[in-house]
Amino acid sequence: MRMYDIIEKKRRGKPLTREEIGFFVNGCVAGKIPDYQVSALLMAICLREMDDRETADLTACMADSGERVDLSSIPGVKVDKHSTGGVGDKTTLIVSPVAASLGVRVAKMSGRGLGYTGGTIDKLESIPGMRTSIGRERFLEIVRRVGFSIISQSGNLAPADKKLYALRDVTATVESIPLIASSIMSKKIAAGSDCILLDVKTGSGAFMKTADDAVRLARTMVSIGENAGRKTVALVTDMNEPLGMAIGNSLEVAEACRTLKGKGPKDLTGLCVELAAHMLSLAGRGDLESCRTAARGALADGSAFAKLKEMVEAQGGDVSVLDDPKRFPKAKACLDIAASTSGYLYAMDAGQWGVASMQLGAGRRTKDDGIDGNAGIVLHKKTGDFVNAGEPFATLYASSEDLCREAERTLLRAVEVREEKPARRPLVFARVTKDGVWKP
Ligand code: URA
Repeated sequence: MRMYDIIEKKRRGKPLTREEIGFFVNGCVAGKIPDYQVSALLMAICLREMDDRETADLTACMADSGERVDLSSIPGVKVDKHSTGGVGDKTTLIVSPVAASLGVRVAKMSGRGLGYTGGTIDKLESIPGMRTSIGRERFLEIVRRVGFSIISQSGNLAPADKKLYALRDVTATVESIPLIASSIMSKKIAAGSDCILLDVKTGSGAFMKTADDAVRLARTMVSIGENAGRKTVALVTDMNEPLGMAIGNSLEVAEACRTLKGKGPKDLTGLCVELAAHMLSLAGRGDLESCRTAARGALADGSAFAKLKEMVEAQGGDVSVLDDPKRFPKAKACLDIAASTSGYLYAMDAGQWGVASMQLGAGRRTKDDGIDGNAGIVLHKKTGDFVNAGEPFATLYASSEDLCREAERTLLRAVEVREEKPARRPLVFARVTKDGVWKP
């Protein structure tokens, strides 16, 4: 078999066999295929796509490229949750303790930020002392005892994805449904949970700019998960504006704590209740409506917040910052930004808020960059709110005023103020299960 022929076949839009896909994935991990040939095939897949069978084969080969985590020592149903990535998305920090406080086990392996903003691990690591690289046995013990644990993904979980993603990132081949679906699902399948809830983002701050494309991605991933024997459901949710009122690592932890105490912003709280209810229902805890009631109850009575503290303590973190987020170290510089005209915030361009948070130091410009755990943005207004000329609609935090000014320029270009109020968008555009697509 020759890599040249595989590239040429896909360039002509022909489906690849399981053997050809296996040759490519294994050769890539073993370092036997040069990067230029791997990149050429990635570009051909991006342009000519893959059918469901090819995407499932690619996922299985990637999942088999490293270890598969064995969660059988943890009793009960294990549910995993994954977001395709958005700006201000701190839902994992909220829904995992909600589910765990209601008896569902969550053994979660997360990544650092892939795009502009920090990932769940970056957010957790803004808590002083918090350890996210703990041994496998300790991880399993915490899930058994506390109900959930979140650790950073080991390098041996789907190593093919690590290699392929690094090349996709520099060859403009990230935005491809078969490549995104196989990348995410290979890691989810290797991570070993029984059920998988996917939060597929759509809008200006997401990979999938339209709801139709997001539904297509969701259907592909649900079908891969179900065929691999995992109960899988996807929600397609809005990412046209940042989620909640905080972007940036410790700022998001503080907002997650407020939400767990029942005092979170409406959009974030609503989405978390919906995600947690689906996790509970996947685990067989009843119909969606009773699971929503249970999730709301865990936020209202403090049991979910207590669970987060238990997990953070078990992983060495200082829980006093969770009780009192004002104890997080302060960024050195801060700057209020204001619109020059009065009117309704009509559009926010979530992607540009991600770029601004990266400019402030809350995300990485290149994958080897460090991250400033205390940099970020606090929003005072969201889409549809009225702003007066000169009234601050956000406050920026960074280690220097220059960084704040750079982000301010980005945001003043991103935000659109108009006389008319924008139409309300739903938070959840669709639910995708093995049985079909529901649009609320
Ligand atoms: N997240 C991933 O893990 N992989 C992708 O390709 C896109 C988002």
